[in-house]
Amino acid sequence: MSYETIDVDIQDGIGIVKLDRPKALNALNAQLVGELGTAFEVLADQELKALVLTGNGQRAFAAGADIKEMAGFSALEAEAMARRGQRLLGRLESFPAPTIAAVNGFALGGGCELAMCCDLIIAGPNAVFGQPEVKLGVIPGFGGTQRLVRRVGRQRALELMMTGRNVPAEEAVDIGIALSVAPEDALDDALALAATIAANGPAAVRMVKRAVHETDRLDIEAGLAAEASLFALCFATEDQSEGMAAFVERRPAAFSGR
Ligand code: CAA
Repeated sequence: MSYETIDVDIQDGIGIVKLDRPKALNALNAQLVGELGTAFEVLADQELKALVLTGNGQRAFAAGADIKEMAGFSALEAEAMARRGQRLLGRLESFPAPTIAAVNGFALGGGCELAMCCDLIIAGPNAVFGQPEVKLGVIPGFGGTQRLVRRVGRQRALELMMTGRNVPAEEAVDIGIALSVAPEDALDDALALAATIAANGPAAVRMVKRAVHETDRLDIEAGLAAEASLFALCFATEDQSEGMAAFVERRPAAFSGR
């Protein structure tokens, strides 16, 4: 598969997707949104151990939806664009393997919304998060009004979306947008984290993700029932037999992901 606005690579079972429009600070235009959608669909079938999403260059993860492209949109075109973006981000959020956003530089607007659809966000020391849409006379359209509230709480989310202010890396960790700040390049730390996750039983890691994501909107009793079912399902995997046998035999496990 060849792409013009993204770069896709797989190393040791870890998918690496780079947004690749550095001159436009990796702004999310229609072509990039389309190519990302195709890439996520293709990669979802590759039995990856993790997926790392990042931007080409140190200046930006993504500076948001492409303002030049949408400036002249009609209301209906704007709604269609928001829906396309939301579908893309939904696909990323439900990606079967763990996903990690490596954020160097700006993750603004749609870029911040995209990062928030990853399971984990590693910020570079120069990372800047924010939802500055009100400065353009619009509101977040790729899920920010929903996911930011769930992530940082209603009051903080309203403050960020009403002021449109920049959130530096350390504060992003403090308020729960990002997991940690890398000392240098966020991609290095994201890849190290992906490798740590990849050393575990891949089937179990996917099951952890399902147990959290699929029970998101359930009450605790229904969530616990779902957890027990997924726990049971682990016992149908080779990874469970191998992982427990390896423990008993005092040797490293050789997981197959099946
Ligand atoms: N769309 C299109 N092009 C963009 C862009 C965007 N979101 N962000 C940056 N660019 C382009 C600039 O136009 C510029 O291109 P030219 O050289 O051709 O003029 C290039 O990227 C470099 O940008 P700057 O010269 O502005 O770089 P800077 O370092 O001075 O500023 C910045 C960086 C603060 C991120 C600034 O570019 C900026 O404010 N960008 C817009 C951020 C924004 O408002 N994002 C939200 C978009 S709306 C949205 O995302 C809605 C949604 O929820 C889906």
